[in-house]
Amino acid sequence: MTTSTNTADMRLPRLSPTTLADRAATVLRDNDTGALVTASPKLYPHMWSWDAAFIAIGLAYLDVRRAVTELDTLLSAQWSDGMIPHIVFTEATGYFPGPDRWGTDAVPQCPPHVRTSGICQPPVHAIALRRIVDTARRASQADVELAETFATRAWRPLYRWHRWLARHRMSESCGLITIVHGWESGMDNSPRWDSPYAHVRPGPDLPPYVRLDTLGVEDPDERPSDDEYDRYLWIIEQLRRADYAPEAVVTNSDFRVGDVFTTALFAMACDDLADLAHESSLEVPGKVADLRAWAARAREAVAHNTDPDTGFAYDRDLRNGDTSKTTTIAAFSPLLCSALPDRLERRLLEELTGPGWAGHPELHAAVVPSVSPNDPGFDARRYWRGPQWPVMAWLFSFAFHRRGWAELARQWRDQGLRLVSDGSFGEYYEPFTGEPLGSTQQSWTAAVTLDWLHSW
Ligand code: SER
Repeated sequence: MTTSTNTADMRLPRLSPTTLADRAATVLRDNDTGALVTASPKLYPHMWSWDAAFIAIGLAYLDVRRAVTELDTLLSAQWSDGMIPHIVFTEATGYFPGPDRWGTDAVPQCPPHVRTSGICQPPVHAIALRRIVDTARRASQADVELAETFATRAWRPLYRWHRWLARHRMSESCGLITIVHGWESGMDNSPRWDSPYAHVRPGPDLPPYVRLDTLGVEDPDERPSDDEYDRYLWIIEQLRRADYAPEAVVTNSDFRVGDVFTTALFAMACDDLADLAHESSLEVPGKVADLRAWAARAREAVAHNTDPDTGFAYDRDLRNGDTSKTTTIAAFSPLLCSALPDRLERRLLEELTGPGWAGHPELHAAVVPSVSPNDPGFDARRYWRGPQWPVMAWLFSFAFHRRGWAELARQWRDQGLRLVSDGSFGEYYEPFTGEPLGSTQQSWTAAVTLDWLHSW
C-alpha cells in the first residue's frame, strides 16, 4: 500500500507511541464522569451506545474495573424489551435533540432511573466484552476474575439485546437488520441513506428546533446539512408518535432500510456472545444455538445482498424492496463477518486495499475512507461522505486480525496509528492531509488508539 508524503503531512506533529498512549489515556480520564465516559467533551456530552463499547475496549488497558463500569452503565439503561438505547443522557445541556425532544420518559419500556433516546445503534457490545475478557487475560489473575465475573453477569442482558434485534429487526424479506433512522447505523449522513431519506418528507407539524451540533465544530460544513437534520427530526417525531413500540416503529418510520453493515456486526457479535458462553461454561440451554442461528442468518443475508461480480454489499430499501447501489465503506461489510466464498472475498479485499479505496495514492494514511475518493459525491470534509474514521479503520484491522490476516492487520494498525498520531483524537480525518475534523478529544478514537498500541 502506498502512503503519501505531501507537504501537509510533513507539517503534522507525530507523537511517539508512549506519548500517544499517555494522551489517549488522558482523553478517557478527562471525559470520565465516573459512571460513564462521554463520547466527547463538547459536541457529545452523553453516552452513545456503540461509542461506549469501543470506549470500554480502551478503558480495559487502563483499568479493567472501569471498563466493566462503562458497560454496566450502558446495560442499566437497557429497555425492558431488550433494546439498548443509542444515547444515555447525562445532566449536560448543549446537545440537541435531548431527552425532552425524544420524549421517552413516558415510554413504559424505558427504565425510570435514566433518560435515553428511543432508537438503537449497531450491536458491537458483545464484541467489546470478548475483547475486554481477552485483554484481562493478558493482565492479572484479579483482572481475569473481574472480567469473567462481569461477562457472566452481562451475558443474559446482551442475549436479550440480540434477541430483540432478531425478533423485531431482522427483516423477513431480506434477512438484513432493519434500521428505522439513519442514526441507528451510526453513519448518519452517509450517501447510503440519500435515496431512503428522499422518501422522508418532514410534515408541517414538525416542531421547531435549533441545531446545536454545528456549534461544536470549527466549520458547520463538517456536519450534516439542515435539510438532512429536518428529516432526522421528522423521523424522531414519527417514532415518538408510535410510542417507540418495537412493532410500530418498523411500520411507522418513513425510513426503513436493511443495513448490511449493522447486519455484519450482528453476525460477529452473536458469535462472540456464543463463544463467551462456551468459554465460561455458562448454563444457558438453547440460547447459544439461537445465537449461532442468528449469526448464520445474518451472514447469509449479507452474502445474499452482495453483488456476485464485485463482492460489494448493498443495503435494501424496505419501503420498495430496492437494492441501494451506493458504494461506500459499508460495501466491505462481508469482510467483517466472513460472508463470502474465497474467490469473491479476495476480489473484495483487493478492491478495499486498491487505489480506489485504502490504497489511493494521495491518502495521508492507507486506511478506508467512508466514501471512495474517486466517487463523484466524495466530500473530503463532511462527516460520513468522505473522511476517514479511526474507529472504522480499527474495526477492519481487528476483523483482519481475527481472520488470521496478520500482515494486513498490522499494516492497518500502523496506518491507523499514523492517522491519529497528531494526538488530537479527531472524530474523523480529512483523508489527504490528515487534518482532524468534527470533534476533537473523541473518546472512541482515544480508545482504539490504546488498543492498537497494545495489539498484534
Ligand atoms: N450521531 C448523531 C449526532 O451527531 C446522534 O446519534 O448527534
